[in-house]
Amino acid sequence: MSHYQITSLEHYHEAYAESVSNPDKFWGDIAEENFKWMKKWDNVCDWNFSEPKVEWFKGAQLNITENCLDRHLEERGNKLALIWEPNDPKERFIRYTYRELYEKVCQMANVLKKHGIKKGDRVAIYMPMIPELTISVLACARIGAIHSVVFAGFSAHSLADRINDAEAKMVLTSDGLYRGAKEIPVKRVVDEALQTCPSVKTVLVAERTRWAVNMVEGRDFWLHDELDTVNKECPAEPMNSEDMLFILYTSGSTGKPKGVVHTCGGYMVYAGYSFKNVFQYEESDIYWCTADIGWITGHTYIVYGPLINGATTVMFEGVPTFPDAGRFWQVCDKYGVNQFYTAPTAIRALMAKGEDHVLSYSLDSLRVIGTVGEPINEEAWQWYYIHVGKEKCPVVDTWWQTETGGIMISGLGKHSPMKPAHAGYPLPGIQPVLLDQEGNEIEGNEEEGYLCVKHPWPSILRTTYGDHERCRVTYFSHYKGYYFTGDGARRDENGMYRIIGRVDDVINVSGHRFGTAEIENAINANDLVAESAVVGYPHDIKGQGIYAYVITKNPVQNEDILRAEIVETVVEEIGKIAKPDKIQFVSGLPKTRSGKIMRRILRKVAEGDTSSLGDTSTLLDPDVVDEIKNGAL
Ligand code: WT7
Repeated sequence: MSHYQITSLEHYHEAYAESVSNPDKFWGDIAEENFKWMKKWDNVCDWNFSEPKVEWFKGAQLNITENCLDRHLEERGNKLALIWEPNDPKERFIRYTYRELYEKVCQMANVLKKHGIKKGDRVAIYMPMIPELTISVLACARIGAIHSVVFAGFSAHSLADRINDAEAKMVLTSDGLYRGAKEIPVKRVVDEALQTCPSVKTVLVAERTRWAVNMVEGRDFWLHDELDTVNKECPAEPMNSEDMLFILYTSGSTGKPKGVVHTCGGYMVYAGYSFKNVFQYEESDIYWCTADIGWITGHTYIVYGPLINGATTVMFEGVPTFPDAGRFWQVCDKYGVNQFYTAPTAIRALMAKGEDHVLSYSLDSLRVIGTVGEPINEEAWQWYYIHVGKEKCPVVDTWWQTETGGIMISGLGKHSPMKPAHAGYPLPGIQPVLLDQEGNEIEGNEEEGYLCVKHPWPSILRTTYGDHERCRVTYFSHYKGYYFTGDGARRDENGMYRIIGRVDDVINVSGHRFGTAEIENAINANDLVAESAVVGYPHDIKGQGIYAYVITKNPVQNEDILRAEIVETVVEEIGKIAKPDKIQFVSGLPKTRSGKIMRRILRKVAEGDTSSLGDTSTLLDPDVVDEIKNGAL
């Protein structure tokens, strides 16, 4: 029986049992049989959750790109590795075989080296969804540079913060980008950001839109010119298993996004294993994940997971609704996609456009369809299952996080039972628990609690970049001996997990995480604002919308103009994706005598439920509650 691929429900149960009773043997077998190592490990896993310190495959050496590229050349050299589908369906697609992708990555790696990038240097990648993005990520990994991909929708300000936190030496970017009907001057954003980024010495610019851009002499270079000067072979840098592979910034309940760190060996093993099993990928399949590589989903399930498995992975530049709401389904039919992976927010947006678009395509190549990013409501699940999956494809509702590196709780293709709105059972090697307020494990089913994990898995985050204490406090201090996810969850009568949502001050907007404090800081950056409080509220398409309560310094003259200005400030501070949906001007916030904002009340009002605000007697000024209720939007 293969250790790597799970082929039945019984097999899953056996693998799961072994992974719990003997994790070292379980992961050691998988790592040994299915990956290419330059040197074997001394120890499979050393860990404690108190520092925390987690080390997988210590003593081993590897390079993840050898596993993604080199080792496939012999058998899969002419197999398609990457299919790139442009924003505009009238434009030509691009495809690379494994050999071609290997050569592109080596060339790019040589360009990085030529510009002085060495093992351990940080490289920021701020690029649209073009093939150069995938190539850049792999090129960094090839030479041991640590990539920090920043989603190209973030503002100059956010980009600068991330570059500075990581002290990146280089930025990889493009002239501009196309996304749906939008055109964005990407290089201009980089230029603005770099005014405050002293660590950056070099900028490499990929050509996408052919717009005229400002090129700073000695700092900025066109990528195509540079690629012409180097050769197509670049040896893979031997990396220690616990060397950093990448940093990816994500929001938490405090103001500043943190750089989640993943390392080479463990991340590789879990990306490969989880991809293979959740999607049940077979050799001739075409797999498509619609995420952006700016998020963890794209890292693990567009780039690394599929390529480790020698898969053909589709990369899409556009959006679900451009030029019309049939775009996803047209692409599925065009390439004969077998596994399709998207987000609930996209499903809801398409559902709102009616069935006609999806019904005009056959979709008969689909075998497994997946979702990720936020809880999927039952209605959207049914629509996806019936109209996209034609009631024959299992829906894998995959729960995981930037910090977990890979999918944690999910069905495994057709092998698992499924239930709408339930992620289901943990993957082998994952030991979730529900804890109560006091940190006791809740036994049994039909129970709800704080979702934690009690044993490390290979791709758990190792630290938050430059601030290990923050990692400890955020994830390992709430409940001693456990990794705390920040989510609440419920086990149903059969032990299937349903994720309820965040229990901290994080809002999930269209599958993207924002800290309420982060958005409040952005709003407060507007000179006219004295104070603000932000909460999430249920939103039909986005899952959660952003509702802001704002106190201004002076009386408001024109509410709409001021709202537009505040929105503009948030766009500048964070990016368009964090725009508040509703802004209510208030004269005060419901604070307790100790000065703490009672968010419970703000959430209720934002939800439109003002009937049961609970006990407000401990408030400093109970009158503000009436004002807030009466002014609710
Ligand atoms: C948070 C992590 C993991 C890639 C995308 C988001 C929520 C994620 C699900 C799901 C319910 C989900 C959780 C989690 N979430 N997947 N299938 N069902 N909730 O990554 O930005 O790190 O956000 O997204 O609340 O904690 P992320």
